[in-house]
Amino acid sequence: MDLGIAGRHAVICASSAGLGHGCALHLARAGCSIVLNGRDEEKLEQAAAVLRKEAGAEVTAILGDITERKTREKLLSVKPVDILVNNAGGPPLADFRDLSDEDIHRGLNSNMVTPIMMVQGVIDGMVERGFGRIVNITSASVLTGIPKLDLSSGARAGLTAFLSGVARQVAGSNVTINNLLPGNFDTDRQDAIIANIAKQAGKAEDEVRKARESSGPAGRFGTPDEFGAACAFLASTHAGYITGQNLLMDGGAFTANF
Ligand SMILES: NC(=O)c1ccc[n+]([C@@H]2O[C@H](COP(=O)([O-])OP(=O)(O)OC[C@H]3O[C@@H](n4cnc5c(N)ncnc54)[C@H](OP(=O)(O)O)[C@@H]3O)[C@@H](O)[C@H]2O)c1
Repeated sequence: MDLGIAGRHAVICASSAGLGHGCALHLARAGCSIVLNGRDEEKLEQAAAVLRKEAGAEVTAILGDITERKTREKLLSVKPVDILVNNAGGPPLADFRDLSDEDIHRGLNSNMVTPIMMVQGVIDGMVERGFGRIVNITSASVLTGIPKLDLSSGARAGLTAFLSGVARQVAGSNVTINNLLPGNFDTDRQDAIIANIAKQAGKAEDEVRKARESSGPAGRFGTPDEFGAACAFLASTHAGYITGQNLLMDGGAFTANF
């Protein structure tokens, strides 16, 4: 399907690996110019090379921490932004009792404040030009709390509620804001979570991985490729009448009827 966004400019935060990279790859295949971002230079350059090779895309790689203002300004300075994918690393697993003041502020900054700042940076230009697509990578934990990821759940729920009202303010200008809610996806973060659980439980990582894979109805993890395809659809011209929505991608794990 032609997504109708060839020639559009897309900024994907925290995109040198995992779900962000899956989004960047699909947007590049749809013909967008891409701004990639990450904190590790080698990983970032390798990720940019994949996009150039697989999609022939124009890629600008911006090294830096997305929670820092100077990095955000660099990401937004390349060209007027048509498509923004908000993403950042999630907080590590922790009992909420053990979170320090600093931990809590860091988590809120990464997963709520930073994406809001990015939206502030792009929204008026999108409204003026009459086209904009914002996709926020949040989490299934917005819908159902996950023990030891309480900080992540709270920050992302705050972001969701904040942007719900904003989405309605700009819908009339062909600017949409939607959220993608990953369940369990096969990424470096998944590996880190598996390693943490295995260590705490004194089990082999392989055993923990298999148990997590088979715990949901789909019997497997999702892939960054599947995630990126959904992101590119929400960023497409076809999705102009979808806004303020939360698309759960969890292979059927969350068992609500509606
Ligand atoms: N995978 C899942 O199953 C899952 C489920 C629910 C929610 N999520 C959430 O979805 C988001 C993406 O997850 P993922 O699995 O793709 O993570 P990942 O595999 O750890 O990849 C994260 C990517 O973001 C970059 N990054 C992290 N923090 C950054 C920062 N502050 N500034 C710039 N770049 C940063 C990383 O590169 P550098 O480290 O080099 O910067 C890497 O490229 C996270 O917020 C995660 O909590 C994931």
